[in-house]
Amino acid sequence: MVTMKNRGVFGSVFINSSRTQKIVLLLMSLALSVLAAGCFIIDPSANQSTFEPLGPVAERQLTIFWWILIGGAVVFVLVGAALIYALVKFRRRSEEETPIQVHGNTRLELLWTIIPAIVVMGFAIASINTLFYSANVPKDSEKTITLEAIGHQWWFEFRYPSPNGPENEVVTANEVYIPVGIPVRINLESVDVIHSFWVPKLAGKVDMVPSEGNHMWFQADEPGEFYGQCAEYCGTSHANMKFKVIAVEPAEFDTWLSDQAAPALESGDPLAKEGAGIFKDAGCSGCHSLKTIAKTGSKGRVGPNLAHVASRRDLAAGMMNNADGAGNVNDAYLQENLRKWLENPSEIKPGNLMSSQAAVYTDPNKTLTERQISALVAYLTSLK
Ligand code: CUA
Repeated sequence: MVTMKNRGVFGSVFINSSRTQKIVLLLMSLALSVLAAGCFIIDPSANQSTFEPLGPVAERQLTIFWWILIGGAVVFVLVGAALIYALVKFRRRSEEETPIQVHGNTRLELLWTIIPAIVVMGFAIASINTLFYSANVPKDSEKTITLEAIGHQWWFEFRYPSPNGPENEVVTANEVYIPVGIPVRINLESVDVIHSFWVPKLAGKVDMVPSEGNHMWFQADEPGEFYGQCAEYCGTSHANMKFKVIAVEPAEFDTWLSDQAAPALESGDPLAKEGAGIFKDAGCSGCHSLKTIAKTGSKGRVGPNLAHVASRRDLAAGMMNNADGAGNVNDAYLQENLRKWLENPSEIKPGNLMSSQAAVYTDPNKTLTERQISALVAYLTSLK
């Protein structure tokens, strides 16, 4: 008799179903597994799929993934087949019969200890190798660049060595430009909690640990825009903590870096000028730096550096897109996004520091007026 013990919910339901129900259940579970795996496997070109590596680190990591997956599948099939063989071959065939009773088999036990040990050792060596490969830029690389990525709740700060001297740094946020074909070493840090730096098409996730540091590298083999995402739960807006890696030809990268190192062009437009005044008076400048090059430890690091905010394709750490299909910033989109953000930042990014700490959001007497918002939008849009 079949008993209900130890079968789990699915087992019990399955056993008590009719033939048709059984088929439906099997199809449903198959569909569910395909769905669960499908988002990424079926469409490798999806922005955050790891199945379309576009750089050497991601390629190497995908290779080890396949080896372990296929190796694991082979082991599963072999063990399953041996188990089914034993169950069928040595089953009790009738009520009267007592099947052969066996205890111990030295040769078999040695085999099933030694073979798995070799297999596991093989995977361990390959995995550790990949770990070291992913951590450090290959020694034979002719040229490399190094940048700092710093996690904040909930946005990413990036610092580049300045073309104007090693004591200066170019600071930007939520958008990393890198030159195509050149290995990029990234030093990871965090100012608050643990975040994780992940660009699925370029490299696996690495934690950004406060005061501990960490490092990794990646390289883009072709120009393009690569999606990045915080991959470690870090609070309310963890899911809203995104960034983009923009890989461009080395010459274009150099131009970008010197543009970023130069002061932002301030507009002569009267409304923008008014906005510049409000930026100071309303307290924005207490948290957002407008200096393009900030020495380490400079003030205005609580919020993203806004020196060239109007050159960025996204706003609010990837939450609002300012660019057209070709990746060019469209001022109309940018203005609309800035307005939405200034009107109510917590609607875009729940829990963000600005809405809980800036007086213009916490003190009802200081709420930004329509005119002030328009002026700030005009000013920020001018910061190319
Ligand atoms: Cu930062 Cu999750």
